Amino acid sequence: MATNDPLPLRRIDHVRFFVGNARQSAYFYRNAFGFDVVAYAGLETRLRHEAGYVLLQGNITFVLASPLGPEHPESQRLVVHGDGVQDIALEVEDVPAAYATAVARGAAGIVPPTLLEDEHGVYEYATIRAYGDTTHSFVNRDRYRGIFAPGYQPIDPERYSPATYHQTGLAAIDHIVGNVEEGKMNAWVKFYQDVMGFTQLISFDDKDISTEYSALMSKVVQGGNGRIKFPINEPAQGKRRSQIEEYLYFYHGPGVQHIALMTGNIIETVKALRANDVSFLRVPPAYYEALPQRIGSIKEDLEDLAELGILVDRDDAGYMLQIFTKPVADRPTLFFEIIQRHGSRSFGKGNFKALFEAIELEQARRGTL
Ligand code: FE2
Repeated sequence: MATNDPLPLRRIDHVRFFVGNARQSAYFYRNAFGFDVVAYAGLETRLRHEAGYVLLQGNITFVLASPLGPEHPESQRLVVHGDGVQDIALEVEDVPAAYATAVARGAAGIVPPTLLEDEHGVYEYATIRAYGDTTHSFVNRDRYRGIFAPGYQPIDPERYSPATYHQTGLAAIDHIVGNVEEGKMNAWVKFYQDVMGFTQLISFDDKDISTEYSALMSKVVQGGNGRIKFPINEPAQGKRRSQIEEYLYFYHGPGVQHIALMTGNIIETVKALRANDVSFLRVPPAYYEALPQRIGSIKEDLEDLAELGILVDRDDAGYMLQIFTKPVADRPTLFFEIIQRHGSRSFGKGNFKALFEAIELEQARRGTL
């Protein structure tokens, strides 16, 4: 399979967020989510147009970047979208080949293959457009020995006290979900299939995922031999404004809706996140009364799950546990999912109804339902 792959992808290398104040966002992701801030780029490292922070936890790398002035080529992004995901960077063996293949198959190129070099070696990347203003970079760091990329230096040890660093057990990115406009889901599924060589996993329709008001359609594509999973959502007809429409309205276009972060122990991870004031969606208590019948026996204590608000779903391969944060900015746009898998390959279809009711409660509070 890998030998015939026209565009072989190793893994998600990093997710780059474009934010209004990267310094404060770094503090949030460090102290609330338990990321270690390992590298910095900015005026002190002779980068004149932006500040950037590299955060690590397990195999997850986030880059938070902010413009230092209106002449930054991406500065308008903040006005239009607010804080959000700019780029999902994919590690490849051969950047020029990946870029040439993607463009030949119909991708819009943004940055052609580019070499960045410093005393630690060579870092190579190229960038194509995905949905909305979101991009995919192809990156290769095989010949780079520095902390992240040229321009970045290890974080000043004076910046944070080791005593305030507490990781929360987040280990890897499970999937990254994009919201696209009504009627555009299939075109983006086709983009990932035809351009990126992904395969389609599962599809839901609005009979699966609808409540009285909200409805969505979702298809999942995967690449990199299953290591990269991108569900794509579009709004479906409902009586009121769906959560996907709410996202598209406030983000002003398609973009990343949520990033699912995998943990090996969701109970400990969610306890730690809650202790750091991360806010999660709550489902009604009745959810847990119906759970044993729906899910059967599981390892975790049902009382722990109910107390923390963790959801459970099952498919024929096993079960999975998941929970969703509230949006992490003022606009109801990007949020996170925490997920632990016990064999299941599900994305939580069995929880959609309970979840949507919880989300709609929040929408009603925002007056956007
Ligand atoms: Fe998800």
